[in-house]
Amino acid sequence: MKWLSLALAMAGSSEAYLRFGCGTLTVERLDPIVEPGKVPSSHVHQIVGGNAFNASMDPAKGDIANKATCTTCQFTEDLSNYWTAVMYFRARNGSYKRVPQYPNALLGNLNGGMTVYYLQQDFNSNKQKVTSFKPGFRMTVGSPGVTKNTHPGLRYTCLQDIMTRGSETYDFPTKPCPAGIMAIHHFPACWDGKNLDSPNHQDHMYNTVKGGFMPAGACPSSHPVRMPQVALETMWNTTMFNDKSLWPADGSQPFVWSYDDSKGSGTHGDYLFGWKGDALQRTMDSTPLLSNGLKTQSVAQQNACSIKPTVKEEIDGWLTHLPGSGSMSGM
Ligand SMILES: *[C@@H]1O[C@H](CO)[C@@H](O)[C@H](O)[C@H]1NC(C)=O
Ligand SMILES: *[C@@H]1O[C@H](CO)[C@@H](O)[C@H](O)[C@H]1NC(C)=O
Ligand SMILES: *[C@@H]1O[C@H](CO)[C@@H](O)[C@H](O)[C@H]1NC(C)=O
Repeated sequence: MKWLSLALAMAGSSEAYLRFGCGTLTVERLDPIVEPGKVPSSHVHQIVGGNAFNASMDPAKGDIANKATCTTCQFTEDLSNYWTAVMYFRARNGSYKRVPQYPNALLGNLNGGMTVYYLQQDFNSNKQKVTSFKPGFRMTVGSPGVTKNTHPGLRYTCLQDIMTRGSETYDFPTKPCPAGIMAIHHFPACWDGKNLDSPNHQDHMYNTVKGGFMPAGACPSSHPVRMPQVALETMWNTTMFNDKSLWPADGSQPFVWSYDDSKGSGTHGDYLFGWKGDALQRTMDSTPLLSNGLKTQSVAQQNACSIKPTVKEEIDGWLTHLPGSGSMSGM
């Protein structure tokens, strides 16, 4: 069966993890976790996943897995949303241009987006009991306010080619990267067992991730419940900006996150759970992981899922300011 061989190729021979592509759903200033209901939110995000995404997403208003009717992700039962900030290039004259995204080489002709991972334990084994997130669950990792990144799960890879892995850095690469920059976000996987969220969207979770998809440490007694290890990889195609004559005269690197961070330390990711029914739990309980019969869709079907933008503003073209900062956003 065609979907089976594709799924096997994507999950790796051991099937100890899920790895799948999610195309771009929307790119705009919305942030239903940190700034719910605010239109527009403070900075631009790139969002993938189910089409129930909107500015508010109040968990009291029901499960998004029952509201979404399509997803940009390969597994049709995954109606979750995942997002990160957006990368811009800052030209010598001070104008900004959004950097395009491209999909992981393994994922076919997807429209931008990200690669999403759910690990049970690590790449080669799935031995421990893992409890699925519950409807309404949400969390963030990293924060725009961080000025020194020490989180082992928040990294960058300077892509020499589309398959480069490893050689991760805590901040933006400082030299041109021939195939672009990969931003990596590993979420924490230890839960307090009670709260679907917390005031800073992080305290209900505890991070034991060591980075590099290695087995994480044991969960502490404050956060005893082991959840799936979610990670995101986003490939930013910087190649059209790699000519050093375009870079600042002092040789510093010209890429900047949409919340105005050119060091990269404030890199952050957001997760809003939305798997249907027990699909994720079933998967995490299966050995191998894909023996649970998750349903897949074609790349064309993934790319066909979209939403109408809520925020009417220019985020592309050459902008005089990053959207949301300064008086003019390049209207
Ligand atoms: C988001 O969608 C829900 C229904 O799913 C709706 O009640 C709410 O008004 C929407 N919020 C915004 C800000 O669009
Ligand atoms: C700024 O520089 C970029 C890249 O060289 C160029 O495309 C753009 O038109 C310039 N903008 C202005 C306002 O001069
Ligand atoms: C990256 O951008 C360059 C320049 O626009 C383009 O030629 C290339 O095909 C892009 N690479 C990918 C993998 O999309």
